[in-house]
Amino acid sequence: MIKAPLVKPAYVAIISQRRSGLREKCAEILSSRQAIIWEVGCGHGHFLTAYAADHPDQLCIGIDIVADRIERAERKCRRARLTNLHFLHADAYDFLASLPEEARFSAVYMLFPDPWPKRRHHKNRLLQAKFLHAIAQKAGPGTPFRFRTDFEPYFGEARATFAAHPDWTLQPEASWPFELPTIFQQKAARYHSLVAECRRH
Ligand SMILES: C[S@@+](CC[C@H](N)C(=O)[O-])C[C@H]1O[C@@H](n2cnc3c(N)ncnc32)[C@H](O)[C@@H]1O
Repeated sequence: MIKAPLVKPAYVAIISQRRSGLREKCAEILSSRQAIIWEVGCGHGHFLTAYAADHPDQLCIGIDIVADRIERAERKCRRARLTNLHFLHADAYDFLASLPEEARFSAVYMLFPDPWPKRRHHKNRLLQAKFLHAIAQKAGPGTPFRFRTDFEPYFGEARATFAAHPDWTLQPEASWPFELPTIFQQKAARYHSLVAECRRH
């Protein structure tokens, strides 16, 4: 007999409460039903603030699990008086689970994700097949996923994960229509970028 993993009821209650708060915020932001430029793990929000200022007609949402990074990102957003930009303190899976049914991404950015270099920690890397599957549920055909890292082994793993994934097609060129070096990009001696497009209809 296969045993189901034990999940403590208190933990389930915490997740459910977290997601219900996020659902309300997402519904408010997405009342215009516009497609979303999503940055996952936005840190202090440098990239998305500059992107949103340069694309005032696009709805941008940045999320991060570290609260004080989001507070700093929100301060940037307020100073720039941007109404098309929102930052949320959220885990990536919680955010995906809290989006309204009809919400769709027009582009996804993941810039310098935590590399988790030790082998026993690889399981913590965010970019995994199940994550790409969850994102594809909210992407349309051709939605680009732009990924950048300075940690070469993670780049190799990400390439292989996209290449083997039924929902995504790796693009031969990593076209990057907007550049603004993030904090981690500024520190990196060199980095690698890839772009994959969603295949789902
Ligand atoms: C290495 S930092 C890069 C930050 C920023 N993108 C940059 O380039 O400066 C990775 C960020 O991903 C965030 N992060 C890690 N796991 C996450 C998750 N499950 N959901 C949301 N954000 C996450 C971390 O808190 C951190 O701010």
